[in-house]
Amino acid sequence: MNTPNIARETILNAFQFRHATKEFDATKTISNEDIDFILKTANLSPSSFGFEPWHFIVVQNKELRELLKPVAWGAPLKLDTASHFVLGLSMKAPMVKHDADYIMHMMKDVKQLPADVIEIYSKFYREFQERDFDLDTDKKLFDWSSKQTYIALGNMMTSAALVGIDSCPIEGFHQEKAEALLQEKFGVDTTKYGLSFMVAFGYRKAAPEFAKSRRNFEDVVSWK
Ligand SMILES: Cc1cc2nc3c(=O)[nH]c(=O)nc-3n(C[C@H](O)[C@H](O)[C@H](O)COP(=O)(O)O)c2cc1C
Repeated sequence: MNTPNIARETILNAFQFRHATKEFDATKTISNEDIDFILKTANLSPSSFGFEPWHFIVVQNKELRELLKPVAWGAPLKLDTASHFVLGLSMKAPMVKHDADYIMHMMKDVKQLPADVIEIYSKFYREFQERDFDLDTDKKLFDWSSKQTYIALGNMMTSAALVGIDSCPIEGFHQEKAEALLQEKFGVDTTKYGLSFMVAFGYRKAAPEFAKSRRNFEDVVSWK
């Protein structure tokens, strides 16, 4: 693994280039290599304890995209024009609570931890959830998973921008109705997964309508 050595200006330029793209050029398609690259940066994202509490569904089927429109007020134009449209799912309590089978699977099969380490890790994870972070309700556990899935979202949008691909994060949807649809038509077990966000990828149809505006850097960062 080489130490990355990308020029700061190149990275900052990508951050300036990225904007929440309202409409994509429907005639342009992201290559398989590029979309795989973007999704791999989600897969490589950090997560608490390394338990990766997420799943991503790439919705390319036109009928399924149509079904999303009535439950996602922020998405119709993107559903029509984006090259790739991704649903960011986060794990709920039955997957991420300290005693869940999935957590054991992650420690045993994915991380291949030895039994004695699993024992220590399990205790530590339980204490973290119960004592340190007060993750004592289903809602809190889902929100905690969601926070982590948003890290993957940020990484996907940044990596897309670095290769000249546009994106738009979308929270403009009705969570309950969207999850009912996912359960019924997308084969998602919504007792285990909830919908955190949608994100569209493609190529901008036109230049951004507004110049990028941000608060003053000095108001955002303080040093002590
Ligand atoms: C979590 C999140 C949810 C968002 N939801 C929507 C949305 O539903 N529809 C939309 O057009 N833009 C959405 N945006 C885009 C923001 O409006 C946009 O990022 C913000 O105004 C800053 O503009 P910029 O991204 O172009 O720099 C969302 C952004 C974030 C981070």
